[in-house]
Amino acid sequence: MNNVKSDFPILDKKIRDKTITYLDSAASTQKPKKVIHSISEFLENSYENVHRGMNSLSIDATDLYEKSRDVAKSFINANSTNEIIFTRGATDSINIIANSLAEHLNKGDKIVVTELEHHSNYLPWMHLCKKLELELKIIPISKEGILSEDEIINNCDDTTKVLSLTHMSNVTGQILDLKKIKQEINKDIYLAVDGCQSIAHLNIDVKDLDCDFYSFSSHKLYGPSGIGIMYGKEDILNQLNPPTLGGGMINEVSSKDFSYAMLPNKFEPGTPSIEAAIGFKAAMEYLNSINYQDYFLKEKQLRSKLISALNDFEEIEIYGSNNNGNATSIVSFNIKNQNFNDIATFLDQYGIMIRGGHHCCQPFMKKLGIPGSCRVSFGIYNDINDIDHFVDSMKKTLKLLQ
Ligand code: ALA
Repeated sequence: MNNVKSDFPILDKKIRDKTITYLDSAASTQKPKKVIHSISEFLENSYENVHRGMNSLSIDATDLYEKSRDVAKSFINANSTNEIIFTRGATDSINIIANSLAEHLNKGDKIVVTELEHHSNYLPWMHLCKKLELELKIIPISKEGILSEDEIINNCDDTTKVLSLTHMSNVTGQILDLKKIKQEINKDIYLAVDGCQSIAHLNIDVKDLDCDFYSFSSHKLYGPSGIGIMYGKEDILNQLNPPTLGGGMINEVSSKDFSYAMLPNKFEPGTPSIEAAIGFKAAMEYLNSINYQDYFLKEKQLRSKLISALNDFEEIEIYGSNNNGNATSIVSFNIKNQNFNDIATFLDQYGIMIRGGHHCCQPFMKKLGIPGSCRVSFGIYNDINDIDHFVDSMKKTLKLLQ
């Protein structure tokens, strides 16, 4: 396994004379040269709109755009490119899923989410429940911040129509056993997965997971921002109507009516972010070329090492840390009587980038009785030196804050 750090130009930069130690990949990952160059190369040589023209540039741009869809299909092992819908990102994907399912839901139906969810897998469902008078069941986490699969399974009953779950928590790194959950719940429940974090740390096979929907963003997978994927099983997508209408997603329009285009176009109104799709393709190809699964194992080990080192700090509280077997890449913590934003700001002076805040998970924070936390998160470019520098800088920071 090579050290891939040199593939990421930003990690060579200095801020205030300090090399960047990037520990905020759960917020967004850095971009390898291949991604950066693929976008400028496309814009310089092949740019045109897609699916709309018969000129050479448009044909080439369409071809590259559709190749990106094909690479995404293989990346998550979907059955067909018809199941790969380009969106603006995971938030957009989950909103499309919720709004498309609306006409298949009735008053009294139940939607199940959990206290571990990011707001983007929480608010679209809460909004839908208010609008359609559905029941929103929120599965609680334990006081340590851990979610139990059995609790989820036990709360899915005959009235449950949708179960929408994070695959991997963006606060604790906990990974849910989706296969176990899917096998034990009623077959008619739509299983929608927020794969924002898991896509960058686990080998995703949507056929094996047998989920109905799986959403993720390119920017957390070493690709550009502004594009993501909504995976949906083809037979289900064929039964749904898209919530947003416009150009490029119709078959025919008259003054009285219109008909939808076939999949996947029916869910892609308007001109897409074409250059982002090209960069996204380069990101997935880059990951394939370095055997990314090997790096995933390393990230898991880094998490365990960081937790052991942090456990030596006085008055530290690490959330969901007793879940080592089933978690990866993310560690959230607080130090008693210290503000998480102060710690993040001081660490910045040592070139260390972490996130302090509620991580768009206010129900989780409220349950734990905290306003937020420090969060360290790893990507494929991190190594043990980053942990050593982080731990050393934490010691200095806490001395300064005393
Ligand atoms: N969803 C991103 C995070 O967890 C922004 O930080």
